[in-house]
Amino acid sequence: MKRSMQVAEEEVLALLQKSKRTFLSTREISERLGVHPYVVYQTVKELRRWDFKILSERGKGYRLLEAPELLLPVEIKRNLKTKILGKNVLSYRTLGSTNQLGFRLAESGVGEGTLVVADEQTKGRGRMGRGWYSPPKLGLWMSLILRPDIPPFKAPGLSICAGLALAQVIKALTGMDAKIKWPNDCLLNGRKVGGILLELSAELDRTNFVIAGIGVNVNHLPSDFPTKLSTHATSIRMEWGKEVSRIKLLTLFLKKFEAIYLDFKKKGLTPQRQLIKRFSSLLGKKVTVKLGKEKIEGVAQDIDDNGSLVVRTRKGERTLRGGEVTVV
Ligand code: BTN
Repeated sequence: MKRSMQVAEEEVLALLQKSKRTFLSTREISERLGVHPYVVYQTVKELRRWDFKILSERGKGYRLLEAPELLLPVEIKRNLKTKILGKNVLSYRTLGSTNQLGFRLAESGVGEGTLVVADEQTKGRGRMGRGWYSPPKLGLWMSLILRPDIPPFKAPGLSICAGLALAQVIKALTGMDAKIKWPNDCLLNGRKVGGILLELSAELDRTNFVIAGIGVNVNHLPSDFPTKLSTHATSIRMEWGKEVSRIKLLTLFLKKFEAIYLDFKKKGLTPQRQLIKRFSSLLGKKVTVKLGKEKIEGVAQDIDDNGSLVVRTRKGERTLRGGEVTVV
Protein backbone atom coordinates (compact mmCIF):
# COMPACT_ATOMS: atom_id res chain seq x y z
CA MET A 1 0.00 0.00 0.00
CA LYS A 2 1.26 3.46 -0.83
CA ARG A 3 2.38 5.65 2.04
CA SER A 4 -0.13 8.39 1.12
CA MET A 5 -2.96 5.88 1.49
CA GLN A 6 -1.59 4.82 4.86
CA VAL A 7 -1.54 8.44 6.05
CA ALA A 8 -5.07 8.96 4.77
CA GLU A 9 -6.20 5.90 6.73
CA GLU A 10 -4.73 7.16 9.96
CA GLU A 11 -6.13 10.64 9.49
CA VAL A 12 -9.63 9.52 8.51
CA LEU A 13 -9.61 7.17 11.47
CA ALA A 14 -8.49 9.92 13.84
CA LEU A 15 -11.36 12.15 12.68
CA LEU A 16 -13.92 9.36 13.04
CA GLN A 17 -12.57 8.47 16.47
CA LYS A 18 -12.77 12.09 17.61
CA SER A 19 -16.30 12.68 16.40
CA LYS A 20 -17.48 9.45 18.10
CA ARG A 21 -21.29 9.66 18.17
CA THR A 22 -21.83 12.19 15.38
CA PHE A 23 -21.72 11.44 11.70
CA LEU A 24 -19.06 12.99 9.47
CA SER A 25 -19.85 13.54 5.83
CA THR A 26 -17.47 12.69 3.01
CA ARG A 27 -17.28 16.38 2.18
CA GLU A 28 -16.38 17.38 5.73
CA ILE A 29 -13.67 14.72 5.93
CA SER A 30 -12.25 15.54 2.52
CA GLU A 31 -12.16 19.27 3.28
CA ARG A 32 -10.59 18.83 6.70
CA LEU A 33 -7.89 16.55 5.35
CA GLY A 34 -7.44 18.31 2.04
CA VAL A 35 -7.97 15.13 0.02
CA HIS A 36 -10.33 14.24 -2.82
CA PRO A 37 -13.70 12.74 -1.71
CA TYR A 38 -12.79 9.59 -3.64
CA VAL A 39 -9.81 9.10 -1.31
CA VAL A 40 -12.22 9.24 1.65
CA TYR A 41 -14.45 6.65 0.02
CA GLN A 42 -11.49 4.35 -0.74
CA THR A 43 -10.08 4.80 2.74
CA VAL A 44 -13.34 3.85 4.43
CA LYS A 45 -13.51 0.81 2.16
CA GLU A 46 -9.98 -0.19 3.16
CA LEU A 47 -10.69 0.34 6.87
CA ARG A 48 -13.76 -1.87 6.59
CA ARG A 49 -11.63 -4.54 4.98
CA TRP A 50 -9.59 -4.50 8.19
CA ASP A 51 -12.75 -5.02 10.29
CA PHE A 52 -13.45 -1.46 11.31
CA LYS A 53 -17.22 -1.27 11.75
CA ILE A 54 -18.16 2.00 10.07
CA LEU A 55 -21.80 2.94 9.74
CA SER A 56 -22.78 4.98 6.71
CA GLU A 57 -26.08 6.78 6.30
CA ARG A 58 -27.30 8.61 3.24
CA GLY A 59 -27.11 12.36 3.70
CA LYS A 60 -25.27 12.04 7.03
CA GLY A 61 -21.96 10.38 6.30
CA TYR A 62 -19.87 7.98 8.39
CA ARG A 63 -19.74 6.98 12.03
CA LEU A 64 -17.22 4.62 13.66
CA LEU A 65 -18.86 1.87 15.69
CA GLU A 66 -16.02 -0.51 16.46
CA ALA A 67 -12.27 -0.60 15.88
CA PRO A 68 -10.05 -3.70 15.88
CA GLU A 69 -6.60 -3.57 17.44
CA LEU A 70 -4.23 -2.69 14.62
CA LEU A 71 -0.57 -1.74 14.87
CA LEU A 72 -1.20 1.93 14.21
CA PRO A 73 1.55 4.43 15.10
CA VAL A 74 -0.74 6.42 17.44
CA GLU A 75 -1.59 3.28 19.40
CA ILE A 76 2.03 2.19 19.56
CA LYS A 77 3.28 5.63 20.61
CA ARG A 78 0.60 6.09 23.26
CA ASN A 79 1.98 3.07 25.11
CA LEU A 80 5.67 3.34 24.32
CA LYS A 81 8.25 4.20 26.98
CA THR A 82 11.51 3.93 25.06
CA LYS A 83 14.23 6.41 24.17
CA ILE A 84 15.24 5.09 20.75
CA LEU A 85 13.42 1.95 19.64
CA GLY A 86 10.14 2.69 17.91
CA LYS A 87 10.41 6.46 18.23
CA ASN A 88 10.12 6.50 14.47
CA VAL A 89 7.39 4.04 13.36
CA LEU A 90 6.37 3.00 9.89
CA SER A 91 3.25 0.92 10.12
CA TYR A 92 1.59 -0.94 7.27
CA ARG A 93 -1.53 -3.01 7.07
CA THR A 94 0.00 -5.22 4.37
CA LEU A 95 3.62 -5.38 3.32
CA GLY A 96 5.82 -7.91 1.50
CA SER A 97 8.40 -8.12 4.27
CA THR A 98 9.26 -5.65 7.05
CA ASN A 99 12.89 -6.80 6.78
CA GLN A 100 13.01 -6.08 3.08
CA LEU A 101 11.62 -2.57 3.51
CA GLY A 102 13.75 -2.04 6.63
CA PHE A 103 16.89 -2.87 4.63
CA ARG A 104 16.00 -0.38 1.90
CA LEU A 105 15.23 2.32 4.46
CA ALA A 106 18.48 1.68 6.32
CA GLU A 107 20.41 1.99 3.04
CA SER A 108 18.73 5.33 2.47
CA GLY A 109 19.90 6.50 5.88
CA VAL A 110 16.93 6.32 8.29
CA GLY A 111 17.88 6.59 11.93
CA GLU A 112 18.72 3.98 14.53
CA GLY A 113 15.68 2.48 16.24
CA THR A 114 13.28 2.99 13.32
CA LEU A 115 10.53 0.39 13.55
CA VAL A 116 8.74 -1.12 10.58
CA VAL A 117 5.62 -3.10 11.48
CA ALA A 118 2.90 -4.72 9.43
CA ASP A 119 -0.40 -6.34 10.33
CA GLU A 120 0.22 -8.79 7.50
CA GLN A 121 3.23 -9.84 5.43
CA THR A 122 2.80 -11.44 2.04
CA LYS A 123 6.47 -12.40 1.60
CA GLY A 124 7.66 -12.81 5.19
CA ARG A 125 11.25 -14.05 5.29
CA GLY A 126 12.60 -16.73 7.57
CA ARG A 127 16.11 -18.06 8.11
CA MET A 128 17.88 -20.29 5.57
CA GLY A 129 15.88 -18.79 2.70
CA ARG A 130 12.62 -20.06 4.15
CA GLY A 131 9.41 -18.04 4.29
CA TRP A 132 7.67 -16.82 7.41
CA TYR A 133 3.93 -17.28 7.63
CA SER A 134 2.49 -13.88 8.59
CA PRO A 135 -1.33 -13.81 8.42
CA PRO A 136 -3.27 -10.58 9.09
CA LYS A 137 -3.75 -9.32 12.66
CA LEU A 138 -2.62 -12.50 14.40
CA GLY A 139 1.02 -11.79 15.05
CA LEU A 140 3.75 -9.26 15.46
CA TRP A 141 5.74 -8.86 12.27
CA MET A 142 8.37 -6.20 12.79
CA SER A 143 11.86 -5.03 11.94
CA LEU A 144 14.14 -2.68 13.81
CA ILE A 145 16.93 -0.73 12.17
CA LEU A 146 20.00 -0.86 14.39
CA ARG A 147 23.35 0.81 13.88
CA PRO A 148 25.62 -0.68 16.53
CA ASP A 149 29.32 0.18 16.39
CA ILE A 150 30.47 -3.45 16.58
CA PRO A 151 32.53 -5.78 14.39
CA PRO A 152 30.25 -8.00 12.26
CA PHE A 153 31.25 -11.21 14.07
CA LYS A 154 29.56 -9.85 17.22
CA ALA A 155 26.25 -9.17 15.44
CA PRO A 156 24.73 -12.67 16.02
CA GLY A 157 24.68 -11.74 19.71
CA LEU A 158 21.84 -9.38 18.82
CA SER A 159 19.67 -12.32 17.85
CA ILE A 160 20.17 -13.78 21.33
CA CYS A 161 19.41 -10.36 22.88
CA ALA A 162 16.15 -10.09 20.94
CA GLY A 163 15.22 -13.68 21.81
CA LEU A 164 15.96 -13.04 25.47
CA ALA A 165 13.86 -9.86 25.49
CA LEU A 166 10.98 -11.69 23.85
CA ALA A 167 11.12 -14.69 26.20
CA GLN A 168 11.24 -12.39 29.24
CA VAL A 169 8.29 -10.32 28.05
CA ILE A 170 6.18 -13.40 27.26
CA LYS A 171 6.99 -14.74 30.72
CA ALA A 172 6.10 -11.42 32.36
CA LEU A 173 2.78 -11.23 30.49
CA THR A 174 1.64 -14.82 30.82
CA GLY A 175 3.67 -16.34 33.63
CA MET A 176 4.64 -19.13 31.21
CA ASP A 177 8.16 -20.46 30.88
CA ALA A 178 9.18 -19.07 27.50
CA LYS A 179 12.59 -20.30 26.30
CA ILE A 180 15.20 -19.18 23.82
CA LYS A 181 16.42 -21.83 21.46
CA TRP A 182 19.81 -20.83 20.09
CA PRO A 183 20.38 -19.15 17.74
CA ASN A 184 17.10 -17.45 16.92
CA ASP A 185 13.95 -19.13 18.16
CA CYS A 186 11.63 -18.48 21.03
CA LEU A 187 9.71 -21.50 22.32
CA LEU A 188 6.62 -22.09 24.43
CA ASN A 189 6.11 -25.64 25.67
CA GLY A 190 8.75 -26.82 23.20
CA ARG A 191 7.06 -25.27 20.15
CA LYS A 192 8.16 -22.29 18.14
CA VAL A 193 6.29 -19.12 19.06
CA GLY A 194 8.77 -16.59 17.66
CA GLY A 195 11.74 -16.29 15.34
CA ILE A 196 14.42 -13.74 14.69
CA LEU A 197 16.08 -12.96 11.39
CA LEU A 198 19.09 -10.66 11.40
CA GLU A 199 20.13 -9.14 8.11
CA LEU A 200 23.41 -7.28 7.99
CA SER A 201 25.15 -4.68 5.92
CA ALA A 202 28.80 -4.80 6.86
CA GLU A 203 32.40 -4.51 5.78
CA LEU A 204 35.06 -6.88 7.07
CA ASP A 205 35.63 -5.04 10.33
CA ARG A 206 32.66 -2.74 10.55
CA THR A 207 28.87 -3.07 10.73
CA ASN A 208 26.92 -0.48 8.75
CA PHE A 209 23.54 -1.56 10.04
CA VAL A 210 21.58 -4.54 11.23
CA ILE A 211 17.95 -5.26 10.47
CA ALA A 212 16.54 -7.19 13.41
CA GLY A 213 13.41 -8.91 12.10
CA ILE A 214 11.19 -10.38 14.77
CA GLY A 215 8.14 -12.53 14.16
CA VAL A 216 5.84 -13.59 17.00
CA ASN A 217 2.79 -15.82 16.68
CA VAL A 218 0.42 -14.09 19.06
CA ASN A 219 -3.27 -14.84 18.65
CA HIS A 220 -3.35 -17.76 16.19
CA LEU A 221 -5.67 -20.67 16.84
CA PRO A 222 -4.59 -24.13 15.62
CA SER A 223 -6.71 -23.73 12.48
CA ASP A 224 -4.84 -20.53 11.59
CA PHE A 225 -1.63 -22.47 10.82
CA PRO A 226 -1.08 -24.32 7.57
CA THR A 227 -0.77 -28.08 8.11
CA LYS A 228 2.97 -28.17 7.51
CA LEU A 229 3.55 -25.83 10.48
CA SER A 230 1.00 -27.30 12.84
CA THR A 231 3.29 -29.84 14.51
CA HIS A 232 6.03 -27.47 15.60
CA ALA A 233 4.57 -23.94 15.60
CA THR A 234 2.37 -22.42 18.25
CA SER A 235 1.05 -19.06 19.40
CA ILE A 236 0.93 -17.38 22.78
CA ARG A 237 -2.87 -17.67 22.74
CA MET A 238 -2.76 -21.39 22.00
CA GLU A 239 -0.47 -22.07 24.95
CA TRP A 240 -1.90 -19.55 27.40
CA GLY A 241 -5.56 -19.83 26.47
CA LYS A 242 -6.16 -16.08 26.33
CA GLU A 243 -5.92 -13.39 23.67
CA VAL A 244 -2.99 -11.03 23.96
CA SER A 245 -2.88 -7.35 23.00
CA ARG A 246 -0.27 -7.08 20.25
CA ILE A 247 0.29 -3.41 21.10
CA LYS A 248 1.01 -4.30 24.72
CA LEU A 249 3.35 -7.11 23.72
CA LEU A 250 5.10 -4.88 21.18
CA THR A 251 5.64 -1.93 23.53
CA LEU A 252 6.83 -4.16 26.38
CA PHE A 253 9.18 -5.92 23.98
CA LEU A 254 10.65 -2.66 22.68
CA LYS A 255 11.27 -1.43 26.22
CA LYS A 256 12.96 -4.67 27.30
CA PHE A 257 14.96 -5.06 24.09
CA GLU A 258 16.14 -1.44 24.27
CA ALA A 259 17.59 -1.94 27.76
CA ILE A 260 19.41 -5.11 26.66
CA TYR A 261 20.54 -3.55 23.38
CA LEU A 262 22.03 -0.44 24.97
CA ASP A 263 23.91 -2.64 27.41
CA PHE A 264 25.05 -4.89 24.56
CA LYS A 265 26.45 -1.93 22.62
CA LYS A 266 28.66 -0.99 25.57
CA LYS A 267 29.57 -4.33 27.10
CA GLY A 268 28.63 -7.08 24.65
CA LEU A 269 26.74 -10.15 25.81
CA THR A 270 28.62 -10.58 29.07
CA PRO A 271 26.07 -8.79 31.34
CA GLN A 272 23.28 -11.00 29.94
CA ARG A 273 25.10 -14.34 30.11
CA GLN A 274 23.40 -15.59 33.29
CA LEU A 275 19.91 -14.71 32.03
CA ILE A 276 20.65 -16.19 28.61
CA LYS A 277 21.66 -19.44 30.27
CA ARG A 278 18.58 -19.42 32.48
CA PHE A 279 16.25 -18.94 29.50
CA SER A 280 18.09 -21.30 27.15
CA SER A 281 16.28 -24.48 26.13
CA LEU A 282 19.46 -26.22 24.97
CA LEU A 283 22.12 -26.07 27.64
CA GLY A 284 22.95 -29.44 29.16
CA LYS A 285 21.01 -31.24 26.39
CA LYS A 286 22.29 -33.70 23.79
CA VAL A 287 22.05 -31.98 20.43
CA THR A 288 22.75 -32.41 16.75
CA VAL A 289 23.76 -29.26 14.92
CA LYS A 290 23.49 -29.19 11.14
CA LEU A 291 26.04 -26.79 9.71
CA GLY A 292 25.98 -26.92 5.92
CA LYS A 293 26.88 -30.52 5.09
CA GLU A 294 28.43 -31.17 8.48
CA LYS A 295 26.54 -32.74 11.40
CA ILE A 296 27.93 -32.10 14.87
CA GLU A 297 26.80 -34.22 17.78
CA GLY A 298 27.41 -33.47 21.42
CA VAL A 299 26.16 -31.75 24.54
CA ALA A 300 25.31 -28.03 24.43
CA GLN A 301 27.55 -26.52 27.08
CA ASP A 302 27.38 -22.76 26.87
CA ILE A 303 26.58 -19.65 24.86
CA ASP A 304 29.75 -17.56 24.79
CA ASP A 305 30.35 -13.81 24.75
CA ASN A 306 29.96 -13.68 20.96
CA GLY A 307 26.64 -15.52 21.06
CA SER A 308 28.21 -18.73 19.74
CA LEU A 309 27.02 -22.13 20.96
CA VAL A 310 29.69 -24.22 22.65
CA VAL A 311 29.15 -27.94 22.10
CA ARG A 312 31.18 -30.70 23.81
CA THR A 313 31.70 -33.44 21.24
CA ARG A 314 33.63 -36.70 21.50
CA LYS A 315 36.52 -35.03 19.71
CA GLY A 316 36.57 -31.95 21.91
CA GLU A 317 34.81 -28.62 22.18
CA ARG A 318 33.30 -26.88 19.14
CA THR A 319 32.26 -23.23 19.09
CA LEU A 320 29.47 -22.68 16.57
CA ARG A 321 28.40 -19.35 15.11
CA GLY A 322 25.20 -20.70 13.51
CA GLY A 323 23.39 -23.87 12.49
CA GLU A 324 20.17 -25.84 12.85
CA VAL A 325 19.90 -27.48 16.24
CA THR A 326 17.85 -30.55 17.11
CA VAL A 327 17.63 -31.92 20.63
CA VAL A 328 18.19 -35.68 20.53
C1 BTN B 1 13.00 -17.63 11.50
O1 BTN B 1 13.21 -18.25 10.45
O2 BTN B 1 12.77 -18.22 12.54
C2 BTN B 1 13.06 -16.12 11.51
C3 BTN B 1 11.72 -15.54 11.19
C4 BTN B 1 11.69 -14.04 11.22
C5 BTN B 1 10.34 -13.50 10.79
C6 BTN B 1 10.26 -12.00 10.91
S1 BTN B 1 8.62 -11.42 10.74
C7 BTN B 1 9.19 -9.79 10.65
C8 BTN B 1 10.46 -9.78 9.86
N1 BTN B 1 10.20 -9.62 8.46
C9 BTN B 1 10.48 -10.71 7.77
O3 BTN B 1 10.29 -10.84 6.54
N2 BTN B 1 10.98 -11.65 8.56
C10 BTN B 1 11.08 -11.18 9.93
